[in-house]
Amino acid sequence: MVQFKEYTPQTFVVDGLAGLNKDMMEEHITLYKGYVTNTNKANAALAQLISDNKADGPDAAEIRRRLGFEFSGMRLHETYFGEMKPGGSPVDEKIKKAVTAAWGSWETWSQDFVRTGMMRGIGWGILYQDPVGGSLQNFWVSDHENGHPAGFKPILVMDVWEHAYIKQFGATGRKSYVEAFFKNIDWSVVTKRMA
Ligand SMILES: [Fe+2]
Repeated sequence: MVQFKEYTPQTFVVDGLAGLNKDMMEEHITLYKGYVTNTNKANAALAQLISDNKADGPDAAEIRRRLGFEFSGMRLHETYFGEMKPGGSPVDEKIKKAVTAAWGSWETWSQDFVRTGMMRGIGWGILYQDPVGGSLQNFWVSDHENGHPAGFKPILVMDVWEHAYIKQFGATGRKSYVEAFFKNIDWSVVTKRMA
């Protein structure tokens, strides 16, 4: 019998974040828990099909596709909620140095990160570290699973699905949400993710 890991939802503090409503953040946490539930369901269903030697058909193919969406949705939300705290923290020298080495200045990088997050569509703006070259680069990820540079490590992830901001900022309020998000980044957590 094949058995994959069963995930448990993590807990996050979303009360008191600067400029981000508690109600909206709590609703977002509820959505996150759905990704954990659906990851577990997809894993269990796929494990069953594999165990029954029925994993070569369309049922298993569909679950495999969904698993990429649900698992990535779960993990990205954990990275996102885990890097926020009320009022944020000062930028660590280590990440400032690494960013400046690749981007010339902190402002050039942060402006580009915002622009990446402002791209049309649903997805994520993500700062990755290349584990081979070490450099830091911004990428756009569509949905939760499309566009991850293979093997790169997410360092800072910003949810820009409409559910992340529409309740408080409206459908045209992504920029205001992004500005509020920046005020709550715990840079010590972000920096610890760097190799
Ligand atoms: Fe989200």
